[in-house]
Amino acid sequence: MSLRRRPSPAQLEALYAQAWWTADRDRAGVRAVLKHSDLIATAWQGRTLAGFARVSTDFAYRAVLWDVIVRSDLRRSGLGTRIVRAVLDDPRLAGVESFWLFTTDKQAFYRRFGFRAYPRNVMVWRRRVPPGP
Ligand SMILES: CC(C)(COP(=O)(O)OP(=O)(O)OC[C@H]1O[C@@H](n2cnc3c(N)ncnc32)[C@H](O)[C@@H]1OP(=O)(O)O)[C@@H](O)C(=O)NCCC(=O)NCCS
Repeated sequence: MSLRRRPSPAQLEALYAQAWWTADRDRAGVRAVLKHSDLIATAWQGRTLAGFARVSTDFAYRAVLWDVIVRSDLRRSGLGTRIVRAVLDDPRLAGVESFWLFTTDKQAFYRRFGFRAYPRNVMVWRRRVPPGP
């Protein structure tokens, strides 16, 4: 587990290929993610990226957890739990009062940490963005 060690764009792109909402992210997008995320948590198996999560935060009030992904052959062995726990326990986020996340079907996984659904509070504005050059 590391909250300092950053994956290379190629390593993250390979992991992103294993989750449905990240599978089509390209190298430029992955570079932007690595450059602009405020906090990155990684799990490693030797030099191989085994798991990943990232956070957007002001380090004072709010944090949003994005892209929690464990390598498909390593799932259900506690790695995802360790990654999310490490983010919630990071001393840099100790003053943050609420962590937000979006999930389509992993509510049961997040409930174990104490996350609760607030369906009436969340609004999202979306648009279709054409692929880059
Ligand atoms: C969701 C994910 C990150 C969980 O990581 P993981 O390492 O497999 O999780 P853990 O082994 O720490 O699981 C802990 C517990 O969470 C629950 N859990 C794990 N995966 C789950 C799933 N797919 N659905 C429902 N509950 C799940 C289980 O209760 C599990 O305990 P168990 O030992 O009784 O099986 C991982 O399955 C993954 O990468 N999935 C694909 C990407 C994804 O959907 N990410 C979440 C985006 S919101």
